[in-house]
Amino acid sequence: MTRTGEPAIRVQNMEKSYKDLHVLRGVDFEVAAGSIFALLGSNGAGKTTLVRILSTLLKADAGTATVHGFDVAANPGDVRESISLTGQFAAVDEVLTGRENLVLVAKLRHLKNPGAIADELLGRFSLTEASGRKAAEYSGGMRRRLDIAMSLIGEPKVIFLDEPTTGLDPQARIDVWQTVKDLAQNGTTVLLTTQYLDEAEHLADRIAILHKGTIIQNGTLDELKRLLPPAEIEYVEKQPSLEDVFLALVGETAEEQEEKEASR
Ligand SMILES: Nc1ncnc2c1ncn2[C@@H]1O[C@H](COP(=O)(O)OP(=O)(O)OP(=O)(O)O)[C@@H](O)[C@H]1O
Ligand SMILES: [Mg+2]
Repeated sequence: MTRTGEPAIRVQNMEKSYKDLHVLRGVDFEVAAGSIFALLGSNGAGKTTLVRILSTLLKADAGTATVHGFDVAANPGDVRESISLTGQFAAVDEVLTGRENLVLVAKLRHLKNPGAIADELLGRFSLTEASGRKAAEYSGGMRRRLDIAMSLIGEPKVIFLDEPTTGLDPQARIDVWQTVKDLAQNGTTVLLTTQYLDEAEHLADRIAILHKGTIIQNGTLDELKRLLPPAEIEYVEKQPSLEDVFLALVGETAEEQEEKEASR
């Protein structure tokens, strides 16, 4: 929870332009502490721009935002201490091993026992076997898991995940989803952006759609579904989806995948 029970994130009338390109044109929303909030929008809608403003990497032109009760413009240092950001492109250092990446972040955050913190996260993300290999040799899914593990060091109150599962196979996506759910269950607030509507359906307590510079809809999945008239009832044979088939055929655990990769 934030200090006074206020929302973990509050964005009011936020505007941002890049020269003539008016990307954010008055964005408003709130995210309750401990909830998962999904921001949907087409390519170029401004999702990453918004995440960068909320994580103090970019200044807004107008409007205000608070994160964990701190104003992003007036108290960027306090905001940074309360958050972590997993960017759209993985931030792992390829020259280092998985474990070295984690130890480095723990040291940068001045935590005691960086080795123990690294080992706990390696276990949690099914990366123990691969911990001694250079991140350059990791698959895309392993790299994503390592990236998210790095962002959890220091137990941030608010986590920003910019397209956390883009490019992952279905099993790795499900692993990341479980991680995100566990985080929220433990009281962390998660704001994620995604192109995948099923990701938002599975994960988010609330979903907002960013379009042409503003939030055009913001609600729970049920509220959003109610915007359309109910479908007429039709009797159809329930066919498995391609994802069901894929997961049934390839549905191995992350550990099994890891063992396979390690033995290559
Ligand atoms: N540094 C920049 N300078 C100029 N224009 C930029 C800059 N960063 C982003 N833009 C433009 O702003 C718009 C929003 O970009 P942004 O990256 O926020 O979109 P997005 O919703 O994250 O898209 P995607 O789904 O492709 O990641 C795009 O038209 C982009 O080209
Ligand atoms: Mg983006």
